[in-house]
Amino acid sequence: MNLRLVITGTDTGIGKTVFSAALTDALGACYWKPIQSGLHEETDSETVLRLGRISSQRILPEAWRLKTPVSPHLSAELDEVTLDPDALQPPETNLPLIIEGAGGLLVPLTRHKTFVDVFARWQIPVVLCARTGLGTINHTLLSLEAMRQRRIPILGVAFIGDAYPDTPRIIEEMGDVRILGRLPRLEPLTPDSLRRAFRENFDTSSFREVIA
Ligand SMILES: Nc1ncnc2c1ncn2[C@@H]1O[C@H](COP(=O)(O)OP(=O)(O)O)[C@@H](O)[C@H]1O
Ligand SMILES: [Mg+2]
Repeated sequence: MNLRLVITGTDTGIGKTVFSAALTDALGACYWKPIQSGLHEETDSETVLRLGRISSQRILPEAWRLKTPVSPHLSAELDEVTLDPDALQPPETNLPLIIEGAGGLLVPLTRHKTFVDVFARWQIPVVLCARTGLGTINHTLLSLEAMRQRRIPILGVAFIGDAYPDTPRIIEEMGDVRILGRLPRLEPLTPDSLRRAFRENFDTSSFREVIA
C-alpha cells in the first residue's frame, strides 16, 4: 500500500494548501481535495498545481466541486447536491497520496456528518496544520482530542507562521504529539521559496515513516 496522509488544520485559511503543495512536491505525491467549496477564486487543486509545480496528472479530480465558498454542507444545499460522506473513498494511486480536508475537523459535510467521521472510517494518518499565533494552543489541543476520541492515527503537528518558541513545546508536552516542523511565512511565496523553506524546516523522511 502506498503512503497516504490526510492534511487537516485547526481552522480555514491557515496555510493547509500551501503546506500540502510543498509536501506533495517533496514526496513526489499525488494530491486530492475530496470536496472543494468555492469555484470563483483559484481552487486548492489549482494552487497546489501552481505552487508545488505538480504535473496536472498528479492532481486528482475532486469528488465534489461546489460553487459557494461556505461550509460543504451548506454549499451542497445551495447547489442542490447531496454529499454522501459514507461513500467518499480515496482514489487508488501508484504514488503517495496527500489528501486535504476542508477547514477543520468538525466541518459538516451534511447536517449529520463532519469530516472527522470520514477520517475515522479511513484510518489514514493525519498531519494537523496549526497557526503559530494567539489561540493556536487551544485549537490544536482540541483537534488532537477530537481525533484521539475517534482513534484516528496522528502523525504529528506542522506549524505555519512566525516562530513562538514556547508554542511547539507546550503542544508537544500537553498534546503528547510529535512536532514535525514549522513553515515560516514566506515573502514572496513562490514555488522556489516554498520548496526551499520546506526542505530547510521539515525532514521529508518523517512523513514516509507511516504506511497506512
Ligand atoms: N507559509 C506561507 N507564507 C506566505 N503565505 C502563506 C503561507 N501559507 C499560507 N499563506 C497564504 O495564506 C492564505 C491561506 O492559505 P491556504 O494554504 O489557502 O490556507 P487553507 O488551505 O488552510 O485554507 C493564502 O493566501 C496563502 O497564500
Ligand atoms: Mg485549503
